[in-house]
Amino acid sequence: MMVSAMSAEFGKDDLPYPYNEVQPVLPFNNHGWYNNRSYIEKLVEEVNPTIVVEVGSWIGLSTRHIASILKQPNAKLYAVDHWLGSAEHQIGQFAYMPFLDKLYEQFLSNIIRANLTHIVVPMRMSSLDAVKIFPATPDLIYIDAGHDYESVYKDLLAWYPLVRGHGVLCGDDWWWDSVRKAVEDFARDNSLKIFAENNFWRLIE
Ligand SMILES: C[S@@+](CC[C@H](N)C(=O)[O-])C[C@H]1O[C@@H](n2cnc3c(N)ncnc32)[C@H](O)[C@@H]1O
Repeated sequence: MMVSAMSAEFGKDDLPYPYNEVQPVLPFNNHGWYNNRSYIEKLVEEVNPTIVVEVGSWIGLSTRHIASILKQPNAKLYAVDHWLGSAEHQIGQFAYMPFLDKLYEQFLSNIIRANLTHIVVPMRMSSLDAVKIFPATPDLIYIDAGHDYESVYKDLLAWYPLVRGHGVLCGDDWWWDSVRKAVEDFARDNSLKIFAENNFWRLIE
């Protein structure tokens, strides 16, 4: 049987589930939307998290950065995404993406190629399903999933109780009116303060 160079490059037996299911491992793809590196680096310094959740991973640009700077020896980053794309990826300028039907395979491939499979735990499901079965207590949650008001408010409502009193909830897309309004309303409804700069926001108790 012919084994392509690409599939032979990563032995199935060397990879944990679900990474061992991607065949062939796709070429690296660096696409994504992530301008929050410096804020995340400061937060990781401050919190030194063991358990991180990213809600909305796309093909792993932010995932790879966050996972690569975690310092705890047993740190895990749970990447929550249904890998179907968001509403804005179905129509308009972002709708044409040649890899839209392979988001999950591309995500797994990128994590394999970055040697981060021991840290990144994919949860392939909706945000609101993942929060119901989330298996640990997060120290840091980064939200970058649906950007419409209702999705953002529901994500905040669902995930905030997991960090209340001890951890940090933050996210991307402060420049989106719908995101900003949802974060502001949620903060007001729960007597929280907001730090926001550039496209980054963070709730403060
Ligand atoms: C803007 S992209 C994330 C970008 C990524 N953080 C980066 O750095 O490139 C939003 C992602 O959220 C996912 N998403 C949107 N709504 C979701 C939901 N309700 N549950 C799970 N994933 C969702 C989409 O599939 C998409 O991959």
